[in-house]
Amino acid sequence: MKRVMPVGIVYGSSTGNTRDVAVKLHAILGGDLHDVTEIDAETIGRYDRLVFATSTWGAGDLQDDWEAFLPTLDAIDFAGKRVGILGLGDQEHYPDIFADAMAILADKVEERGGRIVGLTATDGYTYERSRAVRKGRFLGLAVDEDSQSGRTDERLHGWAEQLRREFA
Ligand SMILES: Cc1cc2nc3c(=O)[nH]c(=O)nc-3n(C[C@H](O)[C@H](O)[C@H](O)COP(=O)(O)O)c2cc1C
Repeated sequence: MKRVMPVGIVYGSSTGNTRDVAVKLHAILGGDLHDVTEIDAETIGRYDRLVFATSTWGAGDLQDDWEAFLPTLDAIDFAGKRVGILGLGDQEHYPDIFADAMAILADKVEERGGRIVGLTATDGYTYERSRAVRKGRFLGLAVDEDSQSGRTDERLHGWAEQLRREFA
């Protein structure tokens, strides 16, 4: 019998944008919503299906709370887990490091044996370079509340549909 598990959505957010977008995704996708400052390795370990949501800060760096949590991810075996990455960034002001932090989380998940799902096309974004793009696709869903907030809802709905298929 196949186990049915809720999705664990874990976000780190410095000024609230990623939190707000994660709340919206949670309303569409269901599951459980966690702030990364309030979760531990054991709780993450219980989910087979996860969404990690982070913004990018500094110069292509991970959001601070995620940065602090990164060593904890090293204690988790991601074998059998599928993870979607939601990345907030600003393509207008950071066009050559747009949403780079997505790649830091994706690399860590893969290093720990997990599978990244929910890759998306780069159509509709205007940027020059991003570490979050691999073989022409974002490593998850890139959301830009600074310069493309009008597209966020549509992007989230499309991605949630995709995740439902790829989590199944
Ligand atoms: C000081 C500063 C540095 C930033 N660095 C980047 C960056 O390197 N790449 C990027 O795509 N966005 C960058 N951003 C944009 C943020 O990622 C974006 O505003 C995001 O929505 C913030 O989400 P949060 O409030 O959840 O942390 C930066 C913003 C600020 C204010």
